[in-house]
Amino acid sequence: MKKKKSLINLIKIPQIEDEGYLFFAQYPESIPFKIKRIYFITKPKSGSVRGKHSHRELKQILFCLQGSVKMILDDGYQKESLILDDPSEGVILKPLIWHEMHELDKKTILLVLASDVYKAEDYVRNYDDFLKIVNAKPKKDS
Ligand code: TYD
Repeated sequence: MKKKKSLINLIKIPQIEDEGYLFFAQYPESIPFKIKRIYFITKPKSGSVRGKHSHRELKQILFCLQGSVKMILDDGYQKESLILDDPSEGVILKPLIWHEMHELDKKTILLVLASDVYKAEDYVRNYDDFLKIVNAKPKKDS
C-alpha cells in the first residue's frame, strides 16, 4: 500500500537575530507564489475557532507571529493537526484543503500571505460541499 503524503507542508524562513528578531519571506525563494494580499488576525476571542473552510483556487501561507495555534488540515481523505508557535515556520494552505484554527490564545497573532485578492466565491464554507468537490476530483499522487 502506498504511504499517504502528509498534508502538512511547512516552510522555514530566514531569521536574523541582532537587537531582536527579524524574519523575512520573499517570492520565489520562500514563498512559492506571488503575494497579492496579506491579512492578519489579532486578539482572538477566547475559545474562538477560525477557518472552517477551504478555498477553490487560493494558495496561502499562514504564520503564527505570536502565541500559538492548533491547525487542523483535512483533504477529505485524511486529517492532520499541528501546533504552530514559531514565527519562522509557515504552513502552506493549498487549494481544497479544509483548514481550522483552534486553541488560539489571547496573544496569538496570525499572518496570512495569499496568492489572490479576496473573492467570496472562492470559499467553500460547507463541509459536505467540500467533500463533494474533493470526491469529484480524484487526488493526484503528486
Ligand atoms: P474568513 O476568511 O472567514 O476568516 P477566518 O477564516 O479567519 O475565520 O473571513 C472573515 C470575514 O472577513 C468574512 O466576512 C470575509 C471577510 N474578509 C474580507 O473581507 N477580506 C479578506 O481578505 C478576508 C481574509 C476576510
